[in-house]
Amino acid sequence: MSHNKTINYYEKLGSRLGYQMVLGGHRHFGWYGDNQRRSMVAAAEAMIDHLAEFADISENTRVLDAGCGQGRTSMQLATKYGAVVSGVDLVPRSINFAQKMGAGNERVDFQSADYNDLPFADETFDVVFTLETFTHSDDPEKTLKEFLRVLKPGGRIAIFDYTVAPLHTMPKEIADAIHLIAKETNCPGFDTITHDYYDHLLPKLGISEYTVVNASQSVLPGIKNMYRLSWVPYHLLELFGKHHSQPNILMGHIGYPAGMKDYIRYVTVRITK
Ligand SMILES: C[S@@+](CC[C@H](N)C(=O)[O-])C[C@H]1O[C@@H](n2cnc3c(N)ncnc32)[C@H](O)[C@@H]1O
Repeated sequence: MSHNKTINYYEKLGSRLGYQMVLGGHRHFGWYGDNQRRSMVAAAEAMIDHLAEFADISENTRVLDAGCGQGRTSMQLATKYGAVVSGVDLVPRSINFAQKMGAGNERVDFQSADYNDLPFADETFDVVFTLETFTHSDDPEKTLKEFLRVLKPGGRIAIFDYTVAPLHTMPKEIADAIHLIAKETNCPGFDTITHDYYDHLLPKLGISEYTVVNASQSVLPGIKNMYRLSWVPYHLLELFGKHHSQPNILMGHIGYPAGMKDYIRYVTVRITK
């Protein structure tokens, strides 16, 4: 399997600058919960707090951050909650950044690895999580089996990501945009992981203890901010017929209307082994 497209997407200057300027280097949406007025960076940090609560992460919990990006989530879990976190990612530049940030902190370690082929022994972790990374998997069944392998009995998997309505049930303009974004960002799951997907996949893997929570209301304020931020660039690009050329701007443009109509949903999935 080639991961070059994923690496190229995250290595692009535009992608790196976008995440840095808008989300302070985090590469996930914000959690607004009962505070709709958080800054986007504060909300991105609040998402990590929500993850810690959702997956029961506390002092000395052994955690795998699968698709850790620049390692900011791992760092927050280690410094604020006392967890012991290993982060893996495909993108060497992100791992270099994470290793520098974590240097001297014994509670974090980072390495380049594919989360489908993890360099860890069976039953190593109390928690394995993916934060907006699982839709990158081109074989979610295989990915989950690998997570289950490295998870201790009684351990938790947390998946925070999108699900979509079946493409044929939405307006063509939105379905086409979702399909294009999935292709350009190398996120096959973005147009195949439908709202009922986990209820089919998880029992098939013998998993009976799980919950899938529709958390859209808690992330929509940030998605609305993205809509506002992308408005000018999207319409400028449109003047030149290039409004489909930048997946992040296109996502900013369609994400909010699609989220309001439940064509795209933000879900938090918790699985117990
Ligand atoms: C949207 S970013 C999220 C990064 C991080 N979880 C965060 O919240 O900041 C998705 C990340 O998943 C990584 N990724 C995608 N497929 C992967 C795989 N098979 N193995 C490891 N990392 C992967 C990408 O390189 C990227 O850094």
